[in-house]
Amino acid sequence: MQAFDVDAIRARFPALSLTQDGRPIVFFDGPGGTQVPQSVIDAVAGYYREANANHGGAFLTSQRSDAIVEDAHAALADLLGVDADEITLGPNMTTLTFHVSRSIGATLRPGDEVVVSGLDHQANVDPWIAAARDNEAIVRTWEPSLDDCTLRLDGLDAVLNERTRLVAVGWASNAVGTINPIREIADRVHRAGAWLYVDAVHAAPHLPLDARAVDADFVACSVYKFFGPHLGALYGRHEIMDSLPAYKVRPASNRFETGTGNHEGDAGAAAAVEYLADVGTRYGGAAATASRRERVLAAMHAIRAYELDLYRYLAARLAELPGVRILGLTADADMDRRTPTAAITIDGVTPHAAADRPDANQPIRPAFGNFAAARRMRVQADPLVSVRLKGLNRLVIPGSFEAVLKADGEPVGRRSFFQPTNPNRCDNCRELGIIDLDFHVPGSAITGRDLTVDLEVVSSPAGMSPRFPLAAAGNPTLNVRMLLGEAAQ
Ligand SMILES: Cc1ncc(COP(=O)(O)O)c(C=O)c1O
Repeated sequence: MQAFDVDAIRARFPALSLTQDGRPIVFFDGPGGTQVPQSVIDAVAGYYREANANHGGAFLTSQRSDAIVEDAHAALADLLGVDADEITLGPNMTTLTFHVSRSIGATLRPGDEVVVSGLDHQANVDPWIAAARDNEAIVRTWEPSLDDCTLRLDGLDAVLNERTRLVAVGWASNAVGTINPIREIADRVHRAGAWLYVDAVHAAPHLPLDARAVDADFVACSVYKFFGPHLGALYGRHEIMDSLPAYKVRPASNRFETGTGNHEGDAGAAAAVEYLADVGTRYGGAAATASRRERVLAAMHAIRAYELDLYRYLAARLAELPGVRILGLTADADMDRRTPTAAITIDGVTPHAAADRPDANQPIRPAFGNFAAARRMRVQADPLVSVRLKGLNRLVIPGSFEAVLKADGEPVGRRSFFQPTNPNRCDNCRELGIIDLDFHVPGSAITGRDLTVDLEVVSSPAGMSPRFPLAAAGNPTLNVRMLLGEAAQ
């Protein structure tokens, strides 16, 4: 087997030769998306040159187009280890998840429960909160352990019960790289009689995936994270997808693909999987005659081994820097439980300042912020505080209000809100909307202190001032999220 030849691989990606001010750019924002190889660019351009047509025509370009769309489904199925007709393609993971969550939501009954995790990207949280809200179901949160950024199985046991219908969890965390034990999670979820929805957006570029081996019911991923175009893919187990009500127009053949697809993106998606298969043949030891699935798996093993070596090098260099800390699992024995994604804090330096250093001698482009997922992690030196209440609190907010963040009873932040949704809906609806509260205060004002948020109605005839004790006091990166709704009658 040929050694992983990084120079040869890099040469296939035109964007890697981009420069800024005469110097090569270093892309450090892999979790945000990858550059694409020339073969993917050619496939997208080739679609326009040779196959551009709508679906189902009895003419050459339409037949070519249909064959490309079919191959894209087969390619994503090969990536995930499932059947081609179990793949739904769509704009991105978030849209696909909202879409199927509406169908799953329609099967929920009042009082049913869904479980989301505090380690997940919001794309695998908010669709389930919305589905629960629309169907009077309850959302429970499986909280991660903050010391090592892992989800513990006993934490899952504590939130599962006979009313649980669905658990949504990430295969791996895009914020800190933790890989979750999906097979063990699936066993527990299925024992409780629920479905498991897995967000594999961060896992797909880094790990060999087998949706059947881990017994997931749904697996969603995004092709732009592994060398392809901006497109999402969803695996849904045959028997479940067939049983779900679909929100679609009647003639559409695929029950969950609505309207005209992104066919040029489909062409690029198939090419991205082909690129991986080629890596598997060249550097993963797979025979050229092996199936695409086998070659992709070989590629992912080779990529994983190379990336972990890179990560070990990065971690060792970061450890030499004073004040720098990598979040999550860092022990060598835990390497098989993390991806090479490193989220770091630097004592006394804000994420924005660290990411945009004017004196850097090379244009390095790391991502910074909370990656839509870091609500419960101490990733910001001068934090944006947002606090998330345990569970979904229902309350009536009949007018504008102010939210006051208090530390040990002393106000340290204040936000004003106007009624977030149409008050005319109040008569019959159960809820008025979800709000996130973000307070900009120095970490030193709140760290180690007992935090609460008070809501003060400022323009309402019915004055009220509900008060919520916060679960995890003193964590400067907690979020408050509230579902505003009618008080239970
Ligand atoms: C772990 C994870 N899940 C979901 C998403 C959302 O994916 P998409 O942009 O395809 O909607 C992202 C995007 O960064 C992500 O990293």
